[in-house]
Amino acid sequence: MSLTHEAPGRVALHLARTAALAPSPHNSQPWSFVEEGHDHGFELRLDGGRRLILTDPGGREAVIACGAALFNVRLAVRRLGFRPAVDLLPDPGDPGHLAHVGCAAHAPAGPDEMLLARAMPRRHTHRGPFEPDPVPDPLLDALRDHARAEGAVLQIVDEPERLRLLADLVRTAEDTHRADAGHAAELARCVGPHGIPREVCRRHPDGTLLAGRDYLGLSWYFARQPKRWSPRTGTVAILSTRYDTRQDWLRSGQALQRLLLHAAAHDVMAAFHTQPLELPAPRARMRTRLTAGLHPQVVLRLGRTTRAWPTPRRAPVETLAHDGVPAGCPR
Ligand SMILES: Cc1cc2nc3c(=O)[nH]c(=O)nc-3n(C[C@H](O)[C@H](O)[C@H](O)COP(=O)(O)O)c2cc1C
Repeated sequence: MSLTHEAPGRVALHLARTAALAPSPHNSQPWSFVEEGHDHGFELRLDGGRRLILTDPGGREAVIACGAALFNVRLAVRRLGFRPAVDLLPDPGDPGHLAHVGCAAHAPAGPDEMLLARAMPRRHTHRGPFEPDPVPDPLLDALRDHARAEGAVLQIVDEPERLRLLADLVRTAEDTHRADAGHAAELARCVGPHGIPREVCRRHPDGTLLAGRDYLGLSWYFARQPKRWSPRTGTVAILSTRYDTRQDWLRSGQALQRLLLHAAAHDVMAAFHTQPLELPAPRARMRTRLTAGLHPQVVLRLGRTTRAWPTPRRAPVETLAHDGVPAGCPR
């Protein structure tokens, strides 16, 4: 790494800010960045200290989030007028170094890339029921194409029996999480001014076919289940990969963000239901019964919504290291 100037470059700050718009498990933002000298490149690193130890013991979801951040960096570089040169997991001796991104040849961004780039600040995670109008088939086809272009597979779960099975697996995993005091405490710590805003979590989490995260332990206060708005569950989809290595997790994250941005550009948002993927048995069952042997990485509901809930992000000075000065230090 060359150390050539004192303040972080504006490009690096821009890339760090854009990367951080990615989704991450319960807004844990498990990433950090290093600016490599003047225009020499941008490192994406896993911040292992921000991983959710009980929810995500293997770090798979944290790496997926970093993959989503990487897609944002690629898009930001395209918007600046360059092709990104991406090296995934460039240093086998340093597993936290997830990617190196440099600027290659000059080439203006095309209209499709601009569409995705403009959707970045508009994309938000949804929780609860969607509007009743379905996601159009041509849009679902386009989302499948986007996932495939990044080396992942998006499968729509619309057959009633398969949907029921998935709903059962989500329910069972969510019940296991809710009954585990350590897990519930980890989830509750994610709520607040720096994580998921409290007002987002005030609705009962079980308002659709797929059980939601109970961030505030609300389900304990209700003797009866709330009304389930089955028709307003939206379109249920599973994003999977052929293998299950760290490369595949990074690929899933890039595919995830690419399809979420395309959806957001068409006013469709996503809700996440990744609970069964965090426990070995339900994840294995999903693999054999629902994804034809592919490794399930993310479970989503897609639909239209009139409400958007922005969540806060750490400032780039907290995540971006430069010239040997660690992130968060005064410069
Ligand atoms: C791998 C992964 C798993 C997630 N799992 C859930 C989930 O099960 N429930 C949920 O409500 N949100 C989930 N999220 C969404 C995050 O909570 C959300 O991205 C974060 O709060 C930031 O908000 P934003 O997406 O609106 O920017 C997940 C995100 C990622 C990347």
